[in-house]
Amino acid sequence: MKRIIIVIAAVALAASAQAQNIVVIHDSEADGRIIPKEIYGQFSEHLGSCIYGGLWVGRDSSIPNEDGYRKDVLDALRALQVPVLRWPGGCFADDYHWMDGIGPQEKRAKISNNTWGGTMEDNSFGTHEFLDLCEKLGCDAYVSGNVGSGTVEEMAKWVEYMTSDKPSTVVDMRKANGREKPWKVKYFGIGNEAWGCGGNMPAEYYSYLYRRYTTYLRNYAGNALCRVASGANSYDYGWTETLMNGIDSGMEAISMHYYTVRDWNHKGSATEFSDREYALTLAKAVDIENAIKGHIRIMDKADPGRKVALFVDEWGTWFDVEPGTNPGHLFQQSTMRDAMVAALSLNIFHKYTDRIKMSNIAQVVNVLQAMILTDPEGHMVLTPTYHVFEMYKIFQDAEFLPVENDTPVCSVSGETYPSLSVTAGRKDGSIRVALVNTELSKSQKVTLSCDSEMGAVEARILTCTDIRDHNTFEKPRTVEPLGFYSYKLRNGALEFMIPARSIITFTISQKQ
Ligand code: AHR
Repeated sequence: MKRIIIVIAAVALAASAQAQNIVVIHDSEADGRIIPKEIYGQFSEHLGSCIYGGLWVGRDSSIPNEDGYRKDVLDALRALQVPVLRWPGGCFADDYHWMDGIGPQEKRAKISNNTWGGTMEDNSFGTHEFLDLCEKLGCDAYVSGNVGSGTVEEMAKWVEYMTSDKPSTVVDMRKANGREKPWKVKYFGIGNEAWGCGGNMPAEYYSYLYRRYTTYLRNYAGNALCRVASGANSYDYGWTETLMNGIDSGMEAISMHYYTVRDWNHKGSATEFSDREYALTLAKAVDIENAIKGHIRIMDKADPGRKVALFVDEWGTWFDVEPGTNPGHLFQQSTMRDAMVAALSLNIFHKYTDRIKMSNIAQVVNVLQAMILTDPEGHMVLTPTYHVFEMYKIFQDAEFLPVENDTPVCSVSGETYPSLSVTAGRKDGSIRVALVNTELSKSQKVTLSCDSEMGAVEARILTCTDIRDHNTFEKPRTVEPLGFYSYKLRNGALEFMIPARSIITFTISQKQ
């Protein structure tokens, strides 16, 4: 068994602006664990302009589109290699009745999206449009069913409509609506946030409902559903415990949600924040590790064989909406602070992939910590978070390489976050490393070596002059990845300075 250990010995240089880190990779000791590509999952909800205007503009739009999907957004998402997309919510899922969203678009039900701003929902984006989008992106579908305001029959028939090839009235309906063959639906959520917007239920009551609903969700035509229980909010370990003990079968995964918000009444501006607010956001972001450990501890007791996966199927930053936008639409800008949150979170997820098999950042377009922002005039901008996901593609399905480090920490009000966070993986004969320097003004010297001999090196950097830097429709390329060449290979080790506020990825081919 091979194992790579990165040892970071941090030497504090008093009275100096530079910290120094020695990174040693012991690549002879990797244990074979894979970082599932689904860690890089996305989430799309009928919320604000995530679907309408973001993913979908309709075939008659003047905005260039492919069968109604925004062409620029499709291309950007294809470049991201999205492995799985969650839909239609979120809170919207438990208000969604799938029959509203099938059949001729002009005849579909018009409803008020009461969860998200009372916006008119014309259902022109429904089951067909979502599942066809997944096929266009080459990703798996993760559909969230309605427990809160739906029925067992409605959910059971939805699964049948999407995945069955046996003759029945709903299958005939699907065919009449233009889809002959069933789709593949790999993941199916039994409600969302059942403790809150999904029905305000106690855990025990939800676990009974879960058993009842899943009894009627059948596997058709070789489609094997991965059934996902609506999991806990942040640190609510009691919820996980009740579900793990109360649902003894029919649950392949349980979810958890975690946002970086500290005070729901004062979330703060996405772009105008103090250095202290930056530090507080990062400290909250990395505290997800404690929440993950807490849920895993409980899961391990009930399920020592680790048959049930943990999906972090909503996570990310949540700030005040952009001034002048609908408060119910959760449209926020995304700065290099968000990129730091994304990279630190992904580095943490990598460590727990023996239990965490999926994560879905919230959300893919125009909502919360979005990958992509669009406007109705047809502009599109890629956020710093998009760039992190794009740079981190190198970790999808890579073998996890444990990182032992003794990294210095930054602290704020007694809470801490790493000054330099590192993750490593291996795939196709190359070692992949990402380093995140969270310091606002200190560059850090790094010496990185491996057990094996290093071959060719490729490196990229995402950096900024100010942590508040972000991309706008007027200036879309303020923050974007660049090639990184300022390293030296000396005595078998890479030596480089990682600038403050920067993320660097390396792909290092291993000499045989
Ligand atoms: O992502 C926005 C909302 O946050 C989702 O709809 C809900 O599940 C969560 O509370």
